[in-house]
Amino acid sequence: MASIHMAQRETWTSRIGFIFAAVGSAVGLGNIWSFPFQTATNGGAAFLVVYLLAVALIGFPTMLIEFVIGRRGEQNPVEAFRKIGHGQWSFVGGLGLFSSLLTLAFYSVVGGWVLSYIVGSATGSYFGDPGTYFGAVSAGPTAVAAHAVFMAITIGIVALGVTGGIERATTFMIPAILVLLVGLGAWATTLEGATAGYNYYLSPDFGVIANNFGTIVPPAMGQAFFTLSLGFSVMIAYASYLGEDDSLPADGGAIVVVNTLVALLAGFVVFPILFATGGAEGASGGAGTAFVALAGAFGNLPAGQIIGFVFFVVLLFAALSSSISLLEVPVSYITEHYGYRRSTTAVAAGVFIFLVGVPATFGTTWLGFYNDFVFKFLLPIAVLLLAVFIGWFADTDAMDELGRGSSVGGSFKTIWLWWVRTVVPIAVVVTLYLGIKALYTGLSSGAYFG
Ligand code: TRP
Repeated sequence: MASIHMAQRETWTSRIGFIFAAVGSAVGLGNIWSFPFQTATNGGAAFLVVYLLAVALIGFPTMLIEFVIGRRGEQNPVEAFRKIGHGQWSFVGGLGLFSSLLTLAFYSVVGGWVLSYIVGSATGSYFGDPGTYFGAVSAGPTAVAAHAVFMAITIGIVALGVTGGIERATTFMIPAILVLLVGLGAWATTLEGATAGYNYYLSPDFGVIANNFGTIVPPAMGQAFFTLSLGFSVMIAYASYLGEDDSLPADGGAIVVVNTLVALLAGFVVFPILFATGGAEGASGGAGTAFVALAGAFGNLPAGQIIGFVFFVVLLFAALSSSISLLEVPVSYITEHYGYRRSTTAVAAGVFIFLVGVPATFGTTWLGFYNDFVFKFLLPIAVLLLAVFIGWFADTDAMDELGRGSSVGGSFKTIWLWWVRTVVPIAVVVTLYLGIKALYTGLSSGAYFG
């Protein structure tokens, strides 16, 4: 795989190299932690249906938008807009950089929890009282220390460089995640509650969707964008290293499929575990309930200690394969733009982001707020701007770029363009409206900082 260092405009040596890097970014806490627990919080299979529709109908076309901008622009996400001749839109790339910073800040805090749970699985210390253990590691000094360790590992990998650090780390971690998840899923079939878990996960109740449209759509859409790493300019950056003869629709399709498979697999692990020890209710709700519910289950299951250890190691790999990509975006922009050394930049940016994340270690309300702000506000806004830009202001270039290197017909391109012009913006505006309403209600009812 080629270096994706921004200073020289290299291209990926293999198509697989690009897909690997993009999958590493996409597969993360979003797939293995957030996805199953958003599903549990929002009615099980009903959420799954809306989420899959959001991924296919809105996420995939949006990924193509970022690919088109990236490959056409052949520059970092901010410069890319200028290169295409629309410099006034470069703030959209900047917004993506900002979202990356903010996301990594709270992502690393959760990464720290995962580290504590690996230790807790090894020592058995959460088995007696999972709630108390979560309280002790999710806030206060332990959380700050674990957040620091997680960020230090991320900085270390990014400082080592793209080929020596990021590529080496992800080519090891992604296959490991897949193999271990399949193993965990196979083990989960043997559990007492497996069938009830699969039912809850896979048999949608369409009445639930109809009655809870307003509460299901924003998280499903936010989750779709987040899990595909859209709206963060990452895919713009990665696609800028693509050669002319790569097919954007084919590559995008492969990334979406692999990413969705990992999330679905995580559900096949988590739901049987939850239903073996009490059902999904215990796991619905905020960020922390997921950890408490799972840890409680591991404490009560045969071989739970080993299974728990493996599960949290998988979660750690997934978190790291994403956090390095989140840090790489600002680092590559700064090194290219200002000419600082990669290692210095990685340390400086990493320390800054660490500090931004510290409030999220005070308690889960701040963390929930960071998370909701990104999911419900920043991401939909970025995606809306991207769709309007490509659909209405750069449509000719976009159509042309989408066709390069691919055998898709003119009708695919035409449908995509009209979809990006109309369906994507309308869907995102609805989501944004519902999401902002939820944020506002949360803020004014004191749900975050009451
Ligand atoms: N997709 C990642 C996940 O599911 C999180 C993420 C969102 C991300 N945007 C990103 C990772 C940008 C790297 C770069 O956990």
